[in-house]
This record gives sequence, structure tokens and C-alpha cells, in this order.
Amino acid sequence: MSRTIIISNRLPTKVQRAATGLTFQPSEGGLATGLGSIYRAKGNVWVGWPGLSVDDPAEQDHVREQLSADSMAPVFLTEAEIRDFYEGFSNSTLWPTFHYFPQYATYEQAHWDAYVAVNEKFCQAVLALAGPDDTIWVHDYQLLLLPEMLRRERPEATIGFFLHIPFPSYELLRALPWGTELVRGMLGADLIGFHTFDYMHHFLSAVSHLLGLPNHNGQVEMPDRPVLVDAFPMGIDYQRYADAAVSEAAQQHEQAYRQALGDAKVVLSIDRLDYSKGIAQRLHAFEALLVRYPEWRERVNLLMVVVPSRDQVPQYAALKEEIDELVGRINAQYRTISWNPIHYFYRSFPFEELSALYRLADVALVTPVRDGMNLVAKEFIASKADQRGVLVLSERAGAAQELAEALLINPTNTNQVVEALREALHLPDEEQQTRMAAMQQLVRQYDVFAWTRLFMDRLTYSKIKQHTLATD
Ligand code: G6P
Repeated sequence: MSRTIIISNRLPTKVQRAATGLTFQPSEGGLATGLGSIYRAKGNVWVGWPGLSVDDPAEQDHVREQLSADSMAPVFLTEAEIRDFYEGFSNSTLWPTFHYFPQYATYEQAHWDAYVAVNEKFCQAVLALAGPDDTIWVHDYQLLLLPEMLRRERPEATIGFFLHIPFPSYELLRALPWGTELVRGMLGADLIGFHTFDYMHHFLSAVSHLLGLPNHNGQVEMPDRPVLVDAFPMGIDYQRYADAAVSEAAQQHEQAYRQALGDAKVVLSIDRLDYSKGIAQRLHAFEALLVRYPEWRERVNLLMVVVPSRDQVPQYAALKEEIDELVGRINAQYRTISWNPIHYFYRSFPFEELSALYRLADVALVTPVRDGMNLVAKEFIASKADQRGVLVLSERAGAAQELAEALLINPTNTNQVVEALREALHLPDEEQQTRMAAMQQLVRQYDVFAWTRLFMDRLTYSKIKQHTLATD
């Protein structure tokens, strides 16, 4: 039986060290939460890093055993690999460059070497697992070299690649010392998927500038085979969010939150702590709303969930300080005895509580300065059983290409964010419902299962096409 081998840097389960031993928890982030619902089907396997360094062979066996019961195969990274490959090249070079923060990017030869070595490590792990008929599906920027490495070993293999973050304009890519190698690495796949057509066009432009390879209608002509390139906007497990939102547990949590907050309207934001998410800009905009429209004081709360992320990377640690300081200052300046403008949570939430927050929110304020897709916007939509609630969404999130009924804003234009926020707080119920119903229909239809089907069908087609060309 042919299976799909999913490969991403991070597994959907995160192993942590506690006083009582190792614990196994769901991972954070769009990729893990988004794909979490589909990989268990039909004997599929997910290959990836369990999120901590485990050196002891007995402990490695224990982790391997636990994860294999849930169809996962761990790739263990050493402390040095975590530093140079994960915090280094992946998150201090690629992440900032691909999110248009080149000023944060570092170029370290040792980080690049570790990136090559860890991609090779993943390659060996996949080769040990994958049979000749298995489909190999590689995910995200930490593994850009893997498709080509696999292709070298298995010229006939079916290999798909999907990028979960933006693919930047060629001008950003050319700032990297290793742009050509990265693009060549991706081209080892038969099909390369992006969230939007813009990212796809940026990629095709990089391919033609850096490698001089022609492309036609989303097909790159490699000397030995064509590679298909296409846009597949990722969806969520809609039903899971819709069901959770009407569950007894979510309703109880919501009631408890509501009691604590009184009648004030609730503006919700949920992100990993990341400079790409525009968290500081959002705080400035919320403060500006309180200044410009003081009638909203004591009548609105910002509930801001910030999930800890990559805290060993200096930019992330600095941002944490900035956010702590900003929230402290704004709360101290505007709070009253009975009202606290910002409720800031620096931790992750269990699924039912997240669902309750989505239910509770009058407005979701999703303001990344760059975001490949942003699944939080879609989770909010799926959780609105009564179709009330307004989405204020950054035009620089991939999701904005689909969610035209959101109030779209430029996240660095504070003025625009303030006015959209005010409009959202005043929007009549009927209009909220019209907008929400249209967005729900789209998010329900193009859920993560449809997304997987579309990608897989296209991957199958890419192979058929190659065979037809070969026998013509
Ligand atoms: C984004 C990336 C994922 C990543 C996630 C969490 O969604 O696209 O590849 O797993 O962030 O980041 P982390 O560094 O914790 O894996």
C-alpha cells in the first residue's frame, strides 16, 4: 500500500522535559495545527523534530516508541544543530528574509553548513522509511534543500513541496548568499505549492533570474523533467472548530470569561510571539483608539494571547521585552478600578479555552506585517456559530486574498487600524452576519482536507505529465 510521508521540521507533538520525566503536548504554529488533522489517515507517517534535544539513547528509544504509536518518526537534533540550523539559518536567516525583515538576517557560514547537514539528516531518515511507491511531501522553509537531496537518491520518487511562509520578491532573495542553492533545492520536487499566486510568481521570477530556467504557465522546464508550481491556499479543519465552539466545555469557559469581563466588548488577538505578527503595532493602534475615541474606555477589552516562540533568538527576546513594557505602560495609563484595557497572556491555551475565546470575541484583530497565510483568522470564522463577530485582517496576510469580507487594513497604518477597529465595534449585527456567512462558506468549503486533496491530485497529475512527456 502506498503511503504519504509528511516531513516538516517540527512534529505536531512537542516533547518537553518536566520534573516527572518527558511530557508529550500538541505543538504550536500554523503548520502543525493545520496538518494535524490529516496525517493519521491510511498509515501515513510524519517525520520531524520533537522539539528538544535528547542525547541519551535509552531516552531516544522511549520518544521513538511513544511517537511511533501515533504515526510519527522523530529526527533528533543535537544542541549544536538546534543552535545553528534551527535558531541560526532557519530562524535568523530565512525567516527574517522571507518575511521582509532583511535587517534582522544574519549570514553565517557555520549556520549554512548546519542547514545543509540537517537537511541531509532528514534525507537519510526519509530514505530509511519511504518505499518506492510512497509519496513524499516536504514542508516549509527549514527543509528547502531536502527535495533535491531526495531526488538525487530516488530519481523516480513522487515528491511534493509546500512552503508555509511567504516567498519573497527576488530582490530579497538575492540579498542571501545562498539564494541559488535554495531555489535549486526546492526544484527537486515534482510539485511546489505556495499559499498565494504572489508567492508563486516571486518564486518563478527567482528561478528565471538565478538559474535562467524558462517557465510557462506555472511549469518550470528543468533539463531532465518539468516541475509544476501552483498556489494552494491552506485551510483548517473547519468542522473541528465549529464543533468545539458549540461544545458544553467551550460554552462554560465563555460564560466564566464573560462574567469576569462584564459588558465590555472583546477584541481578540492570538499569535506566536514573532516580529512578523505586528504585535507592537497592534498595541499602539489599540492605545490610539482609546485616545481618539475615549467613549470606548471601560467599554472594550483587548484579549491578547501571545504564545512563546523561539525565545533563544535575540530578536524574539527583545520583542518580548518591548511587548511587556508596552502592555504595562498602556494598562497603567488607562486602567480604572473596575477596568483593565489589555488582558495579556504569554502562554498557549488548551483547545477548548481557545474555542471559548473565539466564541467570546466581538472582533478578531489579526494584524501581521507579513504572514504566509494566518490560520487564526480562519479559526475565528469557523468558531462563530451565531455568525456574529468581525474580522479585522491585515492585507499582508495570505488569508486576505481569500477573505474579502473582512475589514482589510494595512497593519503599519495606525490610523487605518484605529478606524477599522472602531467600525468593527459599531458594525450592525445584520452586516456582521452577511460578512461572516460568506467567509464561513469559503472556509468550510476549502478546508484542510480539500487543500490536501487538491495538492495530492495535482502531484499525481505532475507525474502523469512527466510520463507522457517521456514516452512521447
Ligand atoms: C510557522 C512555520 C512553521 C513552524 C511554526 C512554529 O507556522 O511556518 O514551520 O513550525 O511557525 O514555529 P517553530 O519555530 O516553533 O517550529
